Parts: sequence; C-alpha cells; structure tokens
Amino acid sequence: MCGIFGYVGDRRNAGTLVVEGLKNLEYRGYDSWGVACKDGGALHVRKDIGRIGNVDSSEFDHDCGIAIAHTRWATHGGVTQINAHPHLSCDGTIAVIHNGIVENYEKIRSDLKKKGHVFLSETDTEVIPHLIEEEYRRTKDFAAAVRSACLRFEGRYAILALHTESNTLVAARTGSPLIVGVEHSSTPNPSSGGGGETSPSSRGGRSRRMEVNGYFIASDIPAFLEHTNTVQYLDDGEMVVTDGKGILFSDIQTGRERPKREVEITWSVEQAQKGDFEHYMLKEIMDQKESIARAVNQSEEQILKVAKAIREAKGTFLVGCGTAGKACMAAEYFFSVIAEKHVNFAPASEFKLYHHFLKSESLLIVVSQSGETADVLEAMRVAKAKGSTVLAIVNVEGSTIAREADSILLINAGPERAVASTKALTGQLAVLLLIAYALADNLREGRMLLLETCAKINDMLNPRYVERLRDFAEHIKNEEDLYIIGKSWNYPMALESAIKIQEVSYVHAEGFAGGELKHGPIALIEEGTPCIALIGNDEVTQDMLSNAMELKARGASIIGVSPERYGVFDEWIKVPNAGAAQAIVNIIPIQVLAYFLAVKRGKDPDMPRNLAKSVTVK
Ligand code: M6R
Repeated sequence: MCGIFGYVGDRRNAGTLVVEGLKNLEYRGYDSWGVACKDGGALHVRKDIGRIGNVDSSEFDHDCGIAIAHTRWATHGGVTQINAHPHLSCDGTIAVIHNGIVENYEKIRSDLKKKGHVFLSETDTEVIPHLIEEEYRRTKDFAAAVRSACLRFEGRYAILALHTESNTLVAARTGSPLIVGVEHSSTPNPSSGGGGETSPSSRGGRSRRMEVNGYFIASDIPAFLEHTNTVQYLDDGEMVVTDGKGILFSDIQTGRERPKREVEITWSVEQAQKGDFEHYMLKEIMDQKESIARAVNQSEEQILKVAKAIREAKGTFLVGCGTAGKACMAAEYFFSVIAEKHVNFAPASEFKLYHHFLKSESLLIVVSQSGETADVLEAMRVAKAKGSTVLAIVNVEGSTIAREADSILLINAGPERAVASTKALTGQLAVLLLIAYALADNLREGRMLLLETCAKINDMLNPRYVERLRDFAEHIKNEEDLYIIGKSWNYPMALESAIKIQEVSYVHAEGFAGGELKHGPIALIEEGTPCIALIGNDEVTQDMLSNAMELKARGASIIGVSPERYGVFDEWIKVPNAGAAQAIVNIIPIQVLAYFLAVKRGKDPDMPRNLAKSVTVK
C-alpha cells in the first residue's frame, strides 16, 4: 500500500530518477502521485491525481541530488491533489512521504493546531512534516527531529523526509517495508582498509571496500533494481540517515547505532520487466512454465526438516491472506490425502483469536508472496508471543516476514508485479505439496509428480490454448455472474478462481464447494448461468459430476475444467491429468480466462481498482 522511493547521491538527475523508479512500484498504489526535489536550497514539489506511470519524468530534470517520490493508495482522505504526498511543513522546508497509518494523528494534529500549525489536507500523513518542523525548532538537527517525531507516532508507517537546509535523506520504519539500495562506484575506496565493519556503509564480508556513490531508499526492490543489486534491510523500529556517501542505521527508541550488512540480491532487471507482453499479469502466468520447477527445486534437507517439525509439533497452523490463503487451504487437503495429517488453516486476519490454542510446541506456517502483508505479520507476532515456531514460505527474500520467521522456504517465482497473484500461488502450492509428500516419507515421488506436472504445464500453455481461452472470454465477457465449484483441493481453487475473476474483470464471481450449492446458493442459478466446474481424476470426480448435473438441471451452462470430457459439460477446457497436483494445473486456465475477461471488458488487469499489490495495513 503506497510506494515510496528516495535517492541521495552523486547523480544530478535525482528527480527524474525517482519518478522513473517509482513507476516500478506503481502496483503498490495508483490513485495519485507526488515528487519533491531539492535543488540547492529550493524545493520543487509536484503532485497530482492519477498514475505515476503516465508522468513524463523529464519534467523533473532539475539539477538535484536529493529527491523523494510517492504513489498513493488512499486510506485517510479522498483521492485529491491536496491529499497526495509529499506533504510539507508550514514553512515549506520539510517534505515527507509516507506509507502506513499514523493512528493517533488526530491528537497530534489538534496539539499542533494549538501551536499555530495550519493543515491543508485530510490525511494522517500531514502531521508528520509539521511535527518534525516543531521538533526541528527545538533541536536544530533534522535527523534528531525526525526521530523525536517518530517517537510520538502510533501505528504502522514507513517515511522518507528531506529538509531544504540538510543534505541528508532521513527514513524510518515501523511495520511498513523500507529497503536501502547501495550504489558503489567501480573503483575501490582508497580510504577504507580490508575486513571488519567499521562504518555503517562498509561492505561486510568483502576484503576491499568500494566507494559509495549514492543510496536509494524504497518500499520495494524493483524501484532501484536497474541501478544496484546491493541492499541493506531496515528492520522495524529503525531509522536511517544518509548523505549519499555514508549511511547510519539506528534504533528509533534508543538512538543507538545498528550495524548493517550489505546483501546481494539475485533478481535481475529482466525478470522484473514485462518484456514483449502487454501486461505483467499475462507475463507472470506464462512464467509458470519455469517458475513452478524453480519452486520444486528445494533443498531436500530443508523440506525434510520442515516435515520433521510438523511431525513433532503439537498442532500446525497454516496462515495466509487472499490467494496465499487459498494455497494454505489447499494444503489442508494435501496433508490429509497424502500424509494423513491434520493441519489447521486460518486466514491471517482471523488468526489473532487462535492464540488460545497456541503453545510453545505449536508450529505456524505462514505463506506470503510479498513477505510484507500486515495481517500475516500480526499472526506471526501472536504466535511468537506464545513461544511457537514460525516457518515462512515466501517469494521475496529479505522481506519482513522472511526476516522475522525462524526459518524460511523460498518459492523462487521471481518478481511478481501484477496485483493479481498467479505464479506465486502455483509456487506456494508446489512447495506445500512437497512438504506433504515428505511428511508421508515419499518426497521423491512428490518431486517426480511435480516435475512431470511442470512439463505438462509447459505443453498446455501453448499459443493455441491461450487463444482458445481468449475466444472463450469474448464469449462470456458480458455475463453478470459466474459461479465456480470444486471439491477437495479444487474447492480452494474455486475460491481462488473467484478472486482472480473478481479482482481483474469486476465480474461478480463466487466459488463454492460443489456439494454446498444445494444448501442455498443453487437458488441463484437461472437459465444459462455460467458455472465452472474444476474437476480432477480422483476420489471425488463422481461427486463433482453429480454436482455439475444438479446445476445443469436448473439451467446452468457448465464449463468443465478437467482432464476428461464429460457429457454434462457445455464447454470443456482441457487440462492435463496431474493427480495430487491437479489444483496447480486447474487454476492456470482460470488465470488466463480472468486476464482476458479483464482485457475484453476494457479493464487494466495489472492495476485493478481499489487494490494494491502488497497489503501493509490491517
Ligand atoms: O503478498 P501476500 O501473498 O501476502 O498477499 C496476500 C494477498 O493480499 C494476495 O494474495 C491478494 O489476495 C492477491 N491480490 C490476489 O490475487
């Protein structure tokens, strides 16, 4: 929610740079945008409603080495130019961009108003520059003023601030992500010796230190990936001050310095770009030809360790949100059918109430693509408070969830930028299936099944197949309602199908367990209502066919997604037979269908209304 990006360093085109970089974070929010560039003692500020992606970055070509930029997903205050960030202090010398919510902003604002501060916007954010201004009057030290202000905030936030009288960029985080990118020159720094961590900007583990040319600070890595692969992670409750040459991390509460290592990340710029595809969503769907195999390629030792932890735990809980939650729910079936093991799924936002069941011997497995989802983080903290162990299955290495968990498994899907999660889901399903097989002492069989499934998916996603789905989307694009049914692991996939169709095409779609329809929802079925049935070759095939028949008898038009064609189908979307991995193959044509439904209905599938990729507020 909201993307923030700042730069300080040797480059003189900081304004253009932050606008270009921010375009790579547009998936975090896209209702309005804003930029502040410091040009000598002057501040150039521009903000507007609309998408940063449509902004011409050359308009920010001032001679400046410090700039910040923001793309907003509104929480407090409507989508207006005034509510867009940056927000400024009364005297216009301090500019702040913010991701998160300052929960006690009303109290702070009323205190500040009494001191004469004038507020222009309806946002919680605007109290930040005013409070910093107030503190700066007292301390005459910009970083100290930011720190004192942060000590007053309640809630989750990440901020970036600059001041016309300072050559530093100051950032702080509590709850919302912030990552530092380090740009080194290609020549070694003559003043630095080898080894040891003597300064905050030194490169841990390298024998010769390289001079630093600049620092980037962003909500997510794609903002600066084209400039550097070297990062430093800010943890919760930390702040950072940098002048582009050196950097100082410290604890917001104590003010004490925090040493940091530099980490090289493996994502490439190409992986994070759309290439020849019109949208990220389609590119990421197609990436599944390779990404699932990368998820399967886990260290055997690691998977066996997780299986052992599940065996030994007194209760295993699976937790995630949205699509990741549907992967967890499917895993309940994997563990039951493959390993005869009961695990409990709960949506992360509901997990808080489960603390009554948690013990120090409990195991919590959290699943998250971004590794930043606020509800998942909260669930982890609830579990940690009880002394339970937390395993995270994530895509983004170094994310907050990855760093706070006791151990992690990476799904290695590569950057996922479309708001609609596709390749992350199938990677999560693959890893969870592997764990279920390991738990059944059958890891080798699980790996074989998954690798065969990957080959089948590769064949399935051919241009003719995709074209057929595009034509089918044309055929159903004007439908007002769509229902999807499934049983066993295809039940969570029916729920996931509904999420995919709803979020990108805005068609009303609902998923049900096949057997549940006759207990109420079947009343919605009319002549011609399209119903998708997700079916495999398994112990519930016959039940599913009966459920499809029940719908057809009420006039529904049945679209079967299945390895076999059955008489009840009006339309058949053929998928390969994948046994226990059927959930993985069945969801893929629905992803493609959802994508084309969005395109055919004139919607942008990468940036659906009201949504953001990474939900960092509760
Ligand atoms: O990054 P996470 O996997 O934790 O995100 C969880 C959900 O917000 C996410 O899956 C969401 O439901 C997607 N937009 C669905 O496509």
